[in-house]
Amino acid sequence: MELFIDPADERGLTVQLYDQVREAILAGRIGPGDRLDSTRRVAAGLRIARSTVAEAYYRLGAEGYIVGRAGGGSVVGPVPAVAPDGPRRTSARLPPVPAVGAIRPYGQQQGQTARYDFRPGSLDPALFPTADWRRCMLPALDHPAGSYGDPAGSPALREELAHWVARSRGVLATAEEVFVTAGAGHAVDLIARALVPPGSVVAVEEPGYPPVVELLHSHGFTVIGVPVDAEGIVVDAIPSQARLVYVTPSHQYPLGMPMSRRRRLELLAWANRAACPIVEDDYDSEFRHTARPLEPLQRLDAEGWVLYVGTFSKSLSPALRLGFLVAPLTVIPALRALRQVIDWNPPQATQSALAAMIRDGHLDRHLRRCRGVYARRRRLLWDGLGATLPAGYTRLPAVAGLHIAVVAPGLGGEPLAHTDVRYSELGRCYAAEPVRDGFLLGFAGIPTALLPEAIKAFSGLLRHSAPELRGQR
Ligand SMILES: Cc1ncc(COP(=O)(O)O)c(C=O)c1O
Repeated sequence: MELFIDPADERGLTVQLYDQVREAILAGRIGPGDRLDSTRRVAAGLRIARSTVAEAYYRLGAEGYIVGRAGGGSVVGPVPAVAPDGPRRTSARLPPVPAVGAIRPYGQQQGQTARYDFRPGSLDPALFPTADWRRCMLPALDHPAGSYGDPAGSPALREELAHWVARSRGVLATAEEVFVTAGAGHAVDLIARALVPPGSVVAVEEPGYPPVVELLHSHGFTVIGVPVDAEGIVVDAIPSQARLVYVTPSHQYPLGMPMSRRRRLELLAWANRAACPIVEDDYDSEFRHTARPLEPLQRLDAEGWVLYVGTFSKSLSPALRLGFLVAPLTVIPALRALRQVIDWNPPQATQSALAAMIRDGHLDRHLRRCRGVYARRRRLLWDGLGATLPAGYTRLPAVAGLHIAVVAPGLGGEPLAHTDVRYSELGRCYAAEPVRDGFLLGFAGIPTALLPEAIKAFSGLLRHSAPELRGQR
């Protein structure tokens, strides 16, 4: 641990050293068995007499905080960490700006695990292609580059992604138009920073994807929820002054329907008239349940208003933090400049591993396998809910993706609390007042063998709740 001294401190040098080590031990920052620097090294680093350090260590040893090690040196003794007395650090004087302080967490709360996790963001770790990933990762780990990479992403990965999105989704992209990001949310953040003036009005689908709504709020934008109907966002209801429109055309989040072709064309015509960029978040169309996908907005867009966003959070793992966007060439320099002053790019080793996963066919093989597994789970969940949901609850058909939305018969109600079962709430997906309540049940995070009992547990929970229960806020 780093030790500091202040020659002007009246406590003297020995006590200053003693206090710092003791406080670090009591606060748990260093724990039993952790090595302390030798008295010689501390003395040399601080340019003080070695005997001063030795005296501090002697006192810590006498009180049991540290013990001598066979072969020399000292380690922290078996002292239980308890909060130190005296003044504590406080962040009371560092309140976040209101737009950030108001962010409400969505979905995955840290540290929470449940036996049956239906939250749409959860994946079953057993499906991750560990052997392939390791094989692709190892060469990348051997030769870390000595320089920052391209802020737009590694050329090899951009090349692979351009081919992959063209082949798998019909998106028209060259490697130069692809920009590697740390997931879809990050892509939207970069777009907002680069293209949307401060204080703008931006439009999202209502209901929509809460993290993006919160993200746009945190930029200080006025976020307007635009209703969706059976064909997708109601274009006539988009405010004319909107400077960005965020949509999920392949699989509307959270309700599940695709945006009709007619509506796509209408939205593009609107974007052209309003000179407004459109974000097409294609977050889960690797998992399609219908035979014929609709052409992506990006492909239909002749004028260059659409920024297409993809992620590997569903297809590989949300923990990798890898996604990408396909942007008109004119936008790439601004994104590159922006990225360069933030974080440059995702770790080069993971980019390199992903490029190899795509190039060597591992990703396609993994997706084929997952599609089979998820088709079974989806069928189990759909049928299971059909057989067990109380009267009045409606399952919504989904054309793609890894969750099913269930609409409750009305609005409001007490929380559905159960430590074993987790799910997301439809009501939470409304930027304004919810007009429908219900649940979002993901089927990717629960092993197939566990799914029947998980469905029973969920439906049981509903039945045992008050009949007027609709969901939880
Ligand atoms: C609509 C939508 N967009 C994007 C994502 C993924 O975001 P990210 O790539 O930032 O993990 C999700 C994940 O559940 C989603 O539902």
